[in-house]
Amino acid sequence: MQNNKFTLKCTKCGYEIDNFKLWFELNQVCPKCGAKHVEAIYPFKYDGLSDLMDTPNNLAESIWLYKDFLPLDNDDNIISCKEGAIPLERWTFLEDFAREQYGINIETQVYRNDLNGGTGTFKDTAASLAASVLKEAGVKNYVVASTGNTATAFGKYLAMAGINAYIFMPIDALKASEAAINAFGQKVFRVQGDYSKAKELAAQFAEKHGYLMTGGNVDPLRVEAKKTMVYEWYRQLGKLPDVYVQALSGGTGPIAIEKALKDAEGTQFAGKMPRQILVQPDKCPPMALAWENAIKNNFAEGWDINFPIIENPPTVVPTLATGKPGTYPIISRLVKKSGGSIIQMEEAKIYDISRWVAFEQKVAMGPASAVCLGGFLNALKLGLIKDGETVLINTGEGVARAPEFMEELIYTTTEVNTLDDCVLHDRDGLKTILLKKLL
Ligand SMILES: Cc1ncc(COP(=O)(O)O)c(C=O)c1O
Ligand SMILES: [Zn+2]
Repeated sequence: MQNNKFTLKCTKCGYEIDNFKLWFELNQVCPKCGAKHVEAIYPFKYDGLSDLMDTPNNLAESIWLYKDFLPLDNDDNIISCKEGAIPLERWTFLEDFAREQYGINIETQVYRNDLNGGTGTFKDTAASLAASVLKEAGVKNYVVASTGNTATAFGKYLAMAGINAYIFMPIDALKASEAAINAFGQKVFRVQGDYSKAKELAAQFAEKHGYLMTGGNVDPLRVEAKKTMVYEWYRQLGKLPDVYVQALSGGTGPIAIEKALKDAEGTQFAGKMPRQILVQPDKCPPMALAWENAIKNNFAEGWDINFPIIENPPTVVPTLATGKPGTYPIISRLVKKSGGSIIQMEEAKIYDISRWVAFEQKVAMGPASAVCLGGFLNALKLGLIKDGETVLINTGEGVARAPEFMEELIYTTTEVNTLDDCVLHDRDGLKTILLKKLL
């Protein structure tokens, strides 16, 4: 079938593949050069985007507001649960914090993925596009390896598309993710090993049965879905942020931002890439370590291809447990180009960070989101955010995704037996206590 809306172009040799069905038949490998990375390209200009920019929030329900700029031919195949068009929230307590502690005036906008309708995470937009495209291509079985949130989101959306999913999860993935996927009726394989072992086994399984497997962080199904967040910033803020902060595992977010800006070249939506501040927990920081090393060596030859591999990373944030960061060469160059940085945060602080945010904003964040916020705090401390800048903080999940983490947030409880045990409480007093722990 000929489609005119988009083609898939090999990023290595430029060979063009007409549609996803063909790309899947080729087992997601370029027939000319053997590369596994294609990008969706669209033959039209992105000027048409401006017509969508006046859409009010109540009519912007999902990424499918941007369907003319997504690689799906027939709208009848759309699988959606209100994902992606989520309201940006201005969190003024973060601005107060920056002013009081560091004397700078900034604007903070929080892109709250916990408000996504599918599974309340970062990963719903990609799952929506993937399920829709796979349905359009007539795919019946699909293999996914994931640390948790992708697994849950794909489990649900593929079930909605009537697609059988085989999901390989590492040993440390959250029980809650496993349970959700089981409940959708999809098959889980709990791999006795870390995320890279789960990926390896999934790839062998896919090959053995001739099934398709997710293409990783550069998979156009993920990148194209996530690029819509850039359009959302334009629609809701009327501008690009100066700085972008995200917890980093494989880095689909930054890749998608770059793609969105590339697609918009020559239109009013082109712009300077926000400085990427990507954050890893100190219990699994391979890309941050590689970056620190690159700085130390003045970005000497090979700086962007050398990275450590952390086997069985001891992090308690399984969604960020990518110990073998195959995308580092892509992410590192992109971060450098943007003038940004890959930094660490102290994982031991995630509970206090989550308590602080819930105290101030009445939003309970999940562990990966707390890592992101911890990175924001460290970026302030390191002077990576400047006076007058607008900072976009992309938080990936709410606390409901991680019940064990939620239990750790208990801190005001006193066990009581008698009336004398029931001490008085001063909610306001907590603020100073929490702040002290963060500084
Ligand atoms: C909540 C959350 N934050 C951040 C990330 C990291 O995303 P990426 O793999 O695109 O770096 C993930 C990935 O699973 C996530 O679920
Ligand atoms: Zn090629």
